[in-house]
Amino acid sequence: MRKIYILASIALSLSAGGLKVEPVTDREMVQACEKCHFVYQAEFLPERSWERLFTEQNLKNHFGDEVKLSSSLREKFLDYYLNNASDSKDTKYRRKINRSIPLNSTPIRVSRVPYIHSKHEDLPKEMFLDNPKVGSYSKCNSCHDAKKGIYDEDEVHVPGWDKGFFTGWHRIDD
Ligand code: HEC
Ligand code: HEC
Repeated sequence: MRKIYILASIALSLSAGGLKVEPVTDREMVQACEKCHFVYQAEFLPERSWERLFTEQNLKNHFGDEVKLSSSLREKFLDYYLNNASDSKDTKYRRKINRSIPLNSTPIRVSRVPYIHSKHEDLPKEMFLDNPKVGSYSKCNSCHDAKKGIYDEDEVHVPGWDKGFFTGWHRIDD
């Protein structure tokens, strides 16, 4: 009995230590990004990426949109992102993200970070692109409780799709 209990608590603590990243909670910051999408967490990209995303010039053309920020809010974002980026601290999860990014590249999409990309590349594309409730690999919060920073594979809910023990991921009406 005792052994089972110990094993169970090890398993639990391993999964609990899984894919939870620190959510952004500052109201001013949340509101600024949530006009368009949830606020991506700092540890998904290295410092050089956040610097690139937040230059005044790049904010004027942010994936085809303009992000309007006061200079104090822009500074606040930069300060936060640089202090929490994937290469700002040596934590287990940051290390995984950071090691996957070649040093000579400066990704501006979390979805294209090799570690994140590798988690989705074997899943059916229709789950993302042709899914009317998703539409893009960037919409983490369609399937993950991303605003809270929860990306654990056991807590994924894909709209219109289900995961069977034997069948794997399939459309609900299949
Ligand atoms: C005016 C709308 C708008 C605002 C405001 C906005 N974004 Fe975006 N953002 C976009 C669009 C559009 C995309 C591309 C989404 C896609 O390809 O599906 C994007 C994508 C991103 C991506 C890449 C996502 C990926 O992994 O593919 C990051 C990172 C990002 N935004 C950060 C931010 C941050 C941080 C803020 C808040 C300061 C912000 N954005 C505010 C429109 C906006
Ligand atoms: C269409 C739904 C969908 C979208 C959008 C999506 N994911 Fe996922 N994600 C999944 C599924 C499904 C899995 C794998 C679960 C499994 O193995 O059964 C997964 C796995 C992951 C994992 C690995 C979890 C683990 O426990 O190992 C991470 C990390 C992750 N996604 C992060 C992201 C991030 C960051 C974004 C946005 C840039 C994103 N995902 C967008 C569906 C999605």
